[in-house]
Amino acid sequence: MASRRPSWALALVALCLSFELALQEKGKGKKEDDNNGGGGGGGETLVPAIFVFGDSTVDVGNNNFLPRCNDICRANYPRYGVDYPSQNATGRFSNGYNLADYVAKLLGFPESPPALKSLSEEGIIEQMKKGINYASGGSGLRNHTGHDLCGQVCTMADQLEMFTSNVQKMGKEDSSELISRSLFFISVGSNDLFEYANDSKPRHNRNDTEFLKGLVDLYKSYLQELYEVGARKFSVVSPSLVGCCPIQRVLGNQRNDTDGLGCFGTANNLSRQLYPMMLSMLQNIDLQGMNYSIADSVGMTELVFEGVIPPGMNLTVVDTACCGGSGPLQVDKCNSTATLCPNRDNYLFWDGFHATDVASSGAAKMLCSDEGSFVHPINITKLATL
Ligand SMILES: *[C@@H]1O[C@H](CO)[C@@H](O)[C@H](O)[C@H]1NC(C)=O
Ligand SMILES: *[C@@H]1O[C@H](CO)[C@@H](O)[C@H](O)[C@H]1NC(C)=O
Ligand SMILES: *[C@@H]1O[C@H](CO)[C@@H](O)[C@H](O)[C@H]1NC(C)=O
Ligand SMILES: *[C@@H]1O[C@H](CO)[C@@H](O)[C@H](O)[C@H]1NC(C)=O
Ligand SMILES: *[C@@H]1O[C@H](CO)[C@@H](O)[C@H](O)[C@H]1NC(C)=O
Ligand SMILES: *[C@@H]1O[C@H](CO)[C@@H](O)[C@H](O)[C@H]1NC(C)=O
Ligand SMILES: *[C@@H]1O[C@H](CO)[C@@H](O)[C@H](O)[C@H]1NC(C)=O
Ligand SMILES: *[C@@H]1O[C@H](CO)[C@@H](O)[C@H](O)[C@H]1NC(C)=O
Ligand SMILES: *[C@@H]1O[C@H](CO)[C@@H](O)[C@H](O)[C@H]1NC(C)=O
Ligand SMILES: *[C@@H]1O[C@H](CO)[C@@H](O)[C@H](O)[C@H]1NC(C)=O
Repeated sequence: MASRRPSWALALVALCLSFELALQEKGKGKKEDDNNGGGGGGGETLVPAIFVFGDSTVDVGNNNFLPRCNDICRANYPRYGVDYPSQNATGRFSNGYNLADYVAKLLGFPESPPALKSLSEEGIIEQMKKGINYASGGSGLRNHTGHDLCGQVCTMADQLEMFTSNVQKMGKEDSSELISRSLFFISVGSNDLFEYANDSKPRHNRNDTEFLKGLVDLYKSYLQELYEVGARKFSVVSPSLVGCCPIQRVLGNQRNDTDGLGCFGTANNLSRQLYPMMLSMLQNIDLQGMNYSIADSVGMTELVFEGVIPPGMNLTVVDTACCGGSGPLQVDKCNSTATLCPNRDNYLFWDGFHATDVASSGAAKMLCSDEGSFVHPINITKLATL
């Protein structure tokens, strides 16, 4: 592992430098207005619109509107949102912004496009010009993922169906140029891994490779579906080391199944196997004229869990939830009576599953500026400007 540390450090130095250069180049040296909580964009953006799909890593409130979705899979109550500009819970699984927000910000938008379910029927057609967020916490690549835990989620299949139907409502002339130049930002798969790893079926009855191959085949079919409605620019975020989130660490300990990082071994093994399979799927996908950027979230997070903290960040606690109860690693529910850590910027995890605002910000910078260490074959900034 030691040999990888310099590459991480270099990648980050390069990141910071190239980032500043990119900003100067675009003449956007002025201070960003962090209090702009609106959905549309005012200034110049690198793509006309962003369409977001996936799970709670990028949901900005769709689950608030699903009547049978329970509180486990919603984040529309305190203390979620304590650091959001309005200081209110929005449905984001974070103390502030999430990954979709920060990627959108780096492309010149004020934050993530709004949640589909928050829009009126007329609002949808107008908002399609700037982008819409279809993501739903708890969902996965498989139709059934999240169903038992959450009561109700928008599955990836549902999300794509709603997108396709909105494109059709726009009319072909209006949509095709827009859709082909827009960014499709997808972060999904962790919940499929969580459910499979937590399943207590005897291990000899299962074939992990077959399960993972099934996920990758589904991923491919969703990309093909988006391509068919005109999408050409795909940013794909692979699941990170899912066994290292606080709840999974506790589970790993309970099962006496921990790896060298102190995380849930079975779950992390799945993450480690999945990334190369996703990369290979993208490298071999035969869709004329499409471009992609895939993030190796396993590589990105591995060093952090080993204690190598990216420069400019002040993460000192990487195993414990900031908002939680008194249980081990603070994994109790994050709600209005939960204890809150004193300095949110020191924590990688906001609750038992989800990253803090500051961690999402760091990850988004990586996705947008990394030069080949963890993002392949191109970063999102490059993808956006193609
Ligand atoms: C924040 O939430 C409170 C109640 O939960 C509500 O009264 C208030 O209007 C909200 N503020 C904003 C800015 O949304
Ligand atoms: C998943 O659900 C969609 C409809 O939402 C359906 O078209 C598709 O066949 C389902 N996939 C599987 C594998 O059941
Ligand atoms: C794991 O599954 C059990 C039921 O088998 C459930 O009670 C528990 O909440 C699950 N844990 C996680 C972290 O999903
Ligand atoms: C597991 O599945 C893979 C892919 O389908 C297959 O190549 C392999 O032989 C299977 N392994 C076992 C032990 O059945
Ligand atoms: C936990 O696993 C370790 C190594 O796999 C083994 O040596 C130990 O006996 C196990 N402990 C329990 C309580 O099962
Ligand atoms: C994880 O993978 C490593 C290497 O492939 C293997 O030695 C270990 O047994 C696996 N652990 C679990 C819990 O599957
Ligand atoms: C974008 O995709 C086209 C065709 O799919 C390919 O020829 C080109 O090399 C890609 N550009 C980059 C920067 O990867
Ligand atoms: C890092 O966090 C510690 C503990 O909260 C704080 O004392 C220190 O000022 C922080 N450092 C920076 C550079 O923000
Ligand atoms: C917060 O969650 C805990 C369980 O972790 C529960 O005991 C408590 O009543 C909840 N508080 C509220 C206000 O719902
Ligand atoms: C993104 O990658 C390109 C090379 O593909 C590099 O020139 C650029 O500095 C990187 N970062 C940004 C913010 O564009």
